[in-house]
Amino acid sequence: MEIRIEKTTHPKEKPDQKNLGFGKYMTDHMFMVDWHKDEGWSNARIVPYAPLELDPACVVLHYAQETFEGLKAYRTAEGKIQLFRPEMNAKRMQRSNERLCMPTLPVEDFVQAVKALVKVEEDWVPSEPDTSLYIRPYMFSTEASLGVHMAAAYTFIIICCPVGAYYPTGLDPVKILVEDELVRAVKGGTGFTKCGGNYAGSILGQVKAEKLGYTQVLWLDGEERKYVEEVGTMNIMFKIAGEIYTAPIDNGTVLAGVTRDSMITLLRDWGYTVHEEKLAVDTLMKAGHDGTLEEVFGTGTAAVISPVGELRYKDDEVVIGDFKTGELTQKLYDTLTGIQWGRIEDTYGWTVTI
Ligand code: COI
Repeated sequence: MEIRIEKTTHPKEKPDQKNLGFGKYMTDHMFMVDWHKDEGWSNARIVPYAPLELDPACVVLHYAQETFEGLKAYRTAEGKIQLFRPEMNAKRMQRSNERLCMPTLPVEDFVQAVKALVKVEEDWVPSEPDTSLYIRPYMFSTEASLGVHMAAAYTFIIICCPVGAYYPTGLDPVKILVEDELVRAVKGGTGFTKCGGNYAGSILGQVKAEKLGYTQVLWLDGEERKYVEEVGTMNIMFKIAGEIYTAPIDNGTVLAGVTRDSMITLLRDWGYTVHEEKLAVDTLMKAGHDGTLEEVFGTGTAAVISPVGELRYKDDEVVIGDFKTGELTQKLYDTLTGIQWGRIEDTYGWTVTI
């Protein structure tokens, strides 16, 4: 893919790296490429970051035909910049797009576009501890038409923003509410995709949880509301009596997280048994009460690893590990972030240098 580069003449002032938060400061440029049913992909370009001009009738604004991804670029102590498993994001976006009847961008074009944009924005990759450049690829239908159908035109964009921790609490434990009324996904739906609509539907649960003093929602399966699936912005893992449990991804309702996959690989290499299988919320709460629920942690690109210190389900509540970050959670965090920031040798071939 040939990429035209037009640099900005008005670079922005960079934000204070100690107060980045998440997703607040966009960089100077964005990548764009268009797709039309008669021409395929065309006009790949990196241009100054600017508002988009969209027809008010364009399909995405009415029927939410949009998918997205999230990955990060990390600055190592030597000043190198590296990505983490970007092909996994490219492939997952292809699966999301197939489900939403959207065109797929070839994996090598996705990775090339990410690399080219990060190269242009290299001065934006922060160097303070635990900061990175969050990269947000997304695609949506741009055709102006109110009929519900596969659109004739789409645009794929990548924007970036320097970020700190997703949760202001960092690696301190969060409180999670198990949602027992609303559902996020059902078999045959779009739960396994990263589409904007999945997140729009989850906001009400999030608002309810926040009102009650919880950081996030733990979703149960949409059919029986019996089995734990995933948290608002993360997959979730449970250490029960020394073994690890996490929801399976082959049911079509749970996102195939890149961090989830990396954690499972590390855990199995360290000799842990990892069960990718259905876990009933009743079994989980029982383990919380009988002392066998040792650690709970969420995994995701934005959040990295988020220890869970408290779980509430209906009127039942369990505190996990005295509301302290567990030993295994800490070890996983140190190992994963060590590989991502180049402090630990990457024996898995996960990092890609820009
Ligand atoms: C990510 O972890 O990259 C995500 O996409 C979660 C996001 C909804 C904040």
